[in-house]
Amino acid sequence: MMCSLWRGSLLTLTSSLNRRVFQCCRQLGRSYNIASCMPEAVAFQGVSDHSGLYKFSVNESDRFWGAVARQRLSWISPFHTVQNCDFSQGKIKWFEGGKLNVSVNCLDRHVQTCPERVALIWERDEPGTEVKITYRQLLELTCRLGNLLKRQGVRRGDCVTIYMPPCPLAVASMLACARIGAAHNVVFAGFSSEALADRIRDAQSSTVITVNQGVRGGKVVDLKRTVDQAVQNCPSVQQVLVAMRTENTVAMTDRDVPLEEEMMKEDVVCEPVAMDSEDVLFLLYTSGSTGKPKGLVHTQAGYLLYTSLTHRYVFNYHDGDVFGCVADIGWITGHSYIVYGPLCNGGTTVLFESTPVYPNPGRYWEMVERLGINQFYGAPTAIRLLLKYGDEWVQNYNRSSLKTLGSVGEPINTEAWEWYHRVVGDGRCPVVDTWWQTETGGICIAPRPSDPEAEIVPGMAMRPFYGIKPALLDTEVVTGDGVLALCYNQYCPLNCATPLLGFFFTGDGAHRSKEGYYQIVGRLDDVINVSGHRLGTAELEDVVVCTIIIMFGVYVFVVLKKAVMVEEDVLAQQLREMVSRSIAKYACPDFIQVVRCLPKTRSGKIMRRVLRKVVERNTDELGDLSTLDDPDSVHEVISGHRRLC
Ligand code: PRX
Repeated sequence: MMCSLWRGSLLTLTSSLNRRVFQCCRQLGRSYNIASCMPEAVAFQGVSDHSGLYKFSVNESDRFWGAVARQRLSWISPFHTVQNCDFSQGKIKWFEGGKLNVSVNCLDRHVQTCPERVALIWERDEPGTEVKITYRQLLELTCRLGNLLKRQGVRRGDCVTIYMPPCPLAVASMLACARIGAAHNVVFAGFSSEALADRIRDAQSSTVITVNQGVRGGKVVDLKRTVDQAVQNCPSVQQVLVAMRTENTVAMTDRDVPLEEEMMKEDVVCEPVAMDSEDVLFLLYTSGSTGKPKGLVHTQAGYLLYTSLTHRYVFNYHDGDVFGCVADIGWITGHSYIVYGPLCNGGTTVLFESTPVYPNPGRYWEMVERLGINQFYGAPTAIRLLLKYGDEWVQNYNRSSLKTLGSVGEPINTEAWEWYHRVVGDGRCPVVDTWWQTETGGICIAPRPSDPEAEIVPGMAMRPFYGIKPALLDTEVVTGDGVLALCYNQYCPLNCATPLLGFFFTGDGAHRSKEGYYQIVGRLDDVINVSGHRLGTAELEDVVVCTIIIMFGVYVFVVLKKAVMVEEDVLAQQLREMVSRSIAKYACPDFIQVVRCLPKTRSGKIMRRVLRKVVERNTDELGDLSTLDDPDSVHEVISGHRRLC
């Protein structure tokens, strides 16, 4: 198993982003009691404000996490040691001696108290055809599936690959694995057969769960056919469980098992396996935007506790709220904030099957109105896309249910942040820019870890969550700008570390303001020294609102808004003036190329390494393009490369 926790080298950065402080992000119509904004179990231990509680979480991390773990999770047997970590050895162990079952925490205990509460709202591709699944129904599906997996020979410690779009059976499959002690390996159902085969082989799965076909953006996708191609090159696979998402029949072989038919033969009771706190819960491969995909492992107790706590406090989620995270379950955001965090909290969570522009660019906001979504969590790339279509698509719909707007995945530039806040949130919903990684499993830096009145600065992730102690490194720990390296493992129950220097290196550049707020300025692999000054791409992108790849100079790729008609040399001149004004002359782009779209992964990350190869004229070495969303985007960038301003 590959496990990479190192994503960059040590560098310092300069940052001169325009930081306007917005005090306007107050929630209306709700009064807060400070104790209600804090982890319940520790709120009474003499600590009465957020900064006090944060200090308590890092200074007395055993007491903090011990109390929170006892309070928030159901244990089959209690843990005897809160943490047993030795960073210099890379040893991370949380809640040793404890036994629990994640599916019991996400399902059974809520079935006892509120069986008819809606757990999942499956927002299917066609608007208005949503399906609601209660906690009682989800537990039944999970148990039947768990029993079916056992009948098919899946045992504790095995790894099941799940290749499904967001749907209730995909969530039930994840939870069924957790129930019987198997690990899951969810592969985004947009990946090619080769990418899927790589991941199945690496995880050595004997069982794959899929659907006959997927439906996305009005198009039918033959997912079973992709699995058929993939498993030809995966000798470990013995069976493929096939659920029916559409009514079209697909060719079935001896290896294939009709999922619904077989699970209906199973009992609705499935005994949960008592798992050790540090047993594997799942594997997940990163998006591959930086080259070969890397497999990450998350374990049971610490991961579940951390996702549940962050879901509750970062988004200010309350019982009865509808949580709308529009990621795919194939990414860590889907694992943590569609499935595990919300379900552990007994929440109602949306499974979004469609795209932001299907059937039109009002899709998100029509859904917000129809489902009454209270917390909306999306990616800057979608926000930037939607703002190009204009405000009417948002304003056509009633968004008064919205209370918090979340952002994740990349830096959110000022224009997108302001549009999200002013237009989508009507200027009354806090925008929480959440920073984290597949490796961390949960949100590490966010504007309002607890205090719902706290100041928010646009485009800043701001404050470390409980137990997170960020450090900025140059060649040593520094006080201003630097590489963001988190030394949180010592203080919070996440399962990632690297022995080097005793820190976990994130590979992201960051700036810390004098108030102590953090701003992420982009991946270190997107950083360059220009005229002796170090620049992160996010900083430049914030000014020119486009994408940049940097070699010996600055090379800008520009995607214009739909309505903009402008000569390229006029545009080039304007962009240079803007950068010169907002950052410095040295940061001015040397080359500017207008493109229709950028090569992106299916999860929306710009494939900068591909742009870099094009700029370097190394188009024979573009590397693994299996995660690329639109192959034409690369051809267009290559053919336009000669026409430079
Ligand atoms: O560079 C950071 C960026 O996304 C990286 C993690 O990517 P991945 O493992 O695919 O997980 C994405 C979902 C958590 C980080 O190293 N990133 C994530 N969130 C932000 C961000 N960059 C800036 N601001 C963020 N809020």
